[in-house]
Amino acid sequence: MFKRLNQVAKIFVHKKQDLIQLDVSSIPLHVAIIMDGNGRWAKNRGLPRIAGHKEGMNAVKKVTRAASEIGIKVLTLYAFSTENWKRPQEEIQFLMKLPSDFFDTFVPELVEKNIRVMSIGEIDPLPLHTKEALTRACEQTKQNTGMVLNFALNYGSQDEICKAVQQIAQDVEQKKLHPKDISRDTIEDYLMTHHLPDVDLLIRTSGEKRISNFLLWQIAYSELIFSEILWPDVSEEIFMAMILEYQNRHRRFGGL
Ligand code: IPE
Ligand code: IPE
Ligand code: MG
Repeated sequence: MFKRLNQVAKIFVHKKQDLIQLDVSSIPLHVAIIMDGNGRWAKNRGLPRIAGHKEGMNAVKKVTRAASEIGIKVLTLYAFSTENWKRPQEEIQFLMKLPSDFFDTFVPELVEKNIRVMSIGEIDPLPLHTKEALTRACEQTKQNTGMVLNFALNYGSQDEICKAVQQIAQDVEQKKLHPKDISRDTIEDYLMTHHLPDVDLLIRTSGEKRISNFLLWQIAYSELIFSEILWPDVSEEIFMAMILEYQNRHRRFGGL
């Protein structure tokens, strides 16, 4: 479905009959996605919520392939929030099993496509098997130099900011840092995303129009796309159409 002509030309993507024309020179470096609507997708089909989560993993694969193909550098996917522990135990248990199912089948392709798995969020409170699956995937792909596939697992932006403030306070106490030297860059250095570029585009599926504690600092100047489509229904073509929408935005960053 992709046809890359050359680096300075355009990427043509077949969308049904139409051709989506992406501008290679303005591919977002970092796309972050709130993958929402799995439960409703399942409910619409009279299926248990977990069927939606399972199908959602196929959408993850499709979007990962498409993002890597067009040259996105970082794809951050919100997989489990610090608030998702409020869900029923059975659903949490199912969600915690997904990383091992997903990586078992997908890591060979990630290696072949030179994609590196990373994560943000507090890993320690996760069940051992979940932690192991994630760290194994990170380890198996750590030599890869292409796209970073960054999973936000047990991630909450407010906790992230609290931790950053605690660490900054400690470094001030230990005289490693002077309060007057604390700049925006300093704060960014203490966030879990310190090694990643700014988020250019934030997508939320399922029609909800909120941020749900995701990357609060990092999306200060991101473009936002809220789509009615439920996450398991997202295809390569739909993702490409969102990138095209991003390319038609005019980013001003406060200037003219
Ligand atoms: C998103 O889908 C996946 C997670 C939060 C883990 P939901 O499970 O929130 O689906 P809806 O919002 O109930 O449809
Ligand atoms: C946000 O979705 C978290 C993830 C997609 C992992 P939620 O479904 O948990 O968000 P709320 O509760 O509707 O805000
Ligand atoms: Mg939801």
